[in-house]
Amino acid sequence: MKKNDRIIIFDTTLRDGEQSPGFSMNIEEKLLIADQLESLNVDVIEAGFPVISDGDFEAVQRISERVKKAQVAGLARANGPDIDAAWKALKNARKPRIHTFISSSDIHIKHQLKKTRAEVLKIAIESVKKAKSYTANVEFSPMDATRSDIGFLAEMVHAVIEAGATTINIPDTVGYTIPSEFHFIIKHLYEHVPGIHNIIVSVHCHNDLGLAVANSIAAVQAGARQIECTINGIGERAGNTAMEEIVMAIKTRSDMFRVTTGINTKQIMSASKLLTHITGVSVQPNKAIVGDNAFAHESGIHQDGILKNSMTYEIMKPEDVGISKSTLVLGKHSGRHAVVDRLKTMGYKLKKDEVDRFFKYFKNLADKKKQIFDEDLIAIVGESIYKEEQKRRYKVENVQISTGMFSPPMSMVTLKDHDDDNKISFEVQHGNGGVDAGVNAVRKMTGTKAVIKAFSLTAITGGSDALCEVSVTAVENFKGRELKVFGSGVSIDISIAGIFSFVDALNKIEYLKKMGHARKISEKV
Ligand code: KIV
Ligand code: ZN
Repeated sequence: MKKNDRIIIFDTTLRDGEQSPGFSMNIEEKLLIADQLESLNVDVIEAGFPVISDGDFEAVQRISERVKKAQVAGLARANGPDIDAAWKALKNARKPRIHTFISSSDIHIKHQLKKTRAEVLKIAIESVKKAKSYTANVEFSPMDATRSDIGFLAEMVHAVIEAGATTINIPDTVGYTIPSEFHFIIKHLYEHVPGIHNIIVSVHCHNDLGLAVANSIAAVQAGARQIECTINGIGERAGNTAMEEIVMAIKTRSDMFRVTTGINTKQIMSASKLLTHITGVSVQPNKAIVGDNAFAHESGIHQDGILKNSMTYEIMKPEDVGISKSTLVLGKHSGRHAVVDRLKTMGYKLKKDEVDRFFKYFKNLADKKKQIFDEDLIAIVGESIYKEEQKRRYKVENVQISTGMFSPPMSMVTLKDHDDDNKISFEVQHGNGGVDAGVNAVRKMTGTKAVIKAFSLTAITGGSDALCEVSVTAVENFKGRELKVFGSGVSIDISIAGIFSFVDALNKIEYLKKMGHARKISEKV
């Protein structure tokens, strides 16, 4: 394989992914994702949009200081203050990159920017030069490239290469293009833009027509060598190119593409689960690579084939994406060593204090549940490590529920408020079921105005003693903006999981309010 056959994986989970409604993360959560991106061995981590909020600035700054191997990119519109802020946040990174952008399509230039092509071209050149005064590593994106006049697009790409951009990213901002057209655009640029062979051509596809991965693949076949993507494909509207899909497509069909990535694919499942736990948003069961059914075989003919030789119906090995078939059954007699060993095989590298926290949850669960499966372990990693580690405002200390067919359900919830000197309060409330009663008690104690818009419940493993996971969508109006968050909670008891998920959502709302994440729509990209 030649050197330029290595595809650069640029992850934008923490920027394009995080900016979509409900996917906001706090700084500690972003640091956990950044660590996982390092374990995956991504080449570039786009850590945020520093000028947009204090929270984004601090996250980019802390990720820059923490990340060891990957380049860290910060997004900036094509103007001085954005580029200054991006550099201020990035300057301690080992390998910083400024990513600046301005639209190139007439529809954006005329209606959104209210400028002429010539004015936009001048701004693009000046911005790249300004970014270049800070770092040699500058990426430029002509936004809405796929709906731009191809002649003007080529002119802009040429101008910014001359100004010093080292990566040119061609975004399909609105998810409009199709594979053959995108292939043509990339090929056209390669054939008509002088100097393009000296820089990296990147692509950034949105999934509005479900074509983000296919379009990225077509671009690679036309010569693109950087792909922008996100874990689980999260991102604005229908999301971005899903990292797990593009990486596994390149790996599985290396016979067709003859390119490679540096991704440690065994970390894919852990990355997907980590994001799910942090955001409270699960992937659909039939999601390629990381969905629950991605490696499940239901049909008798398929099962028969798999038993004889897994290659009959499996094009990838589950182990290659970090799904391992366990022969070990864990339970209350399992020692710490066996449990840690199992977690390691599943791709979780826990520090000593994390193992301590995890093991407490494990023992507690093992007292109630006879057999503990991998899915249970993943769920309690989420609860005991990712959630416990965060500085969250509210913590549920205890829940007691009484209910019956002929008596009104009642919940008593004990809550700790970290922002009020760790004050412990408790409240007893009635409701339409244990969850509703518990939520009413939490409402009373916190005075929250948040409303639950959606509630869903999944049993993690089979059996009446299954762990269950509740996800809620909660919204609250704050300073004229609607804050929308997803919360999740895991417990062996359905009602307790429901109360946990509501409190999780409240903590996220509290965080958004504190960090100035209530962005104005006009500030979003
Ligand atoms: O979709 C888009 O055009 C973007 C740019 C900022 C690259 O996210
Ligand atoms: Zn985007």
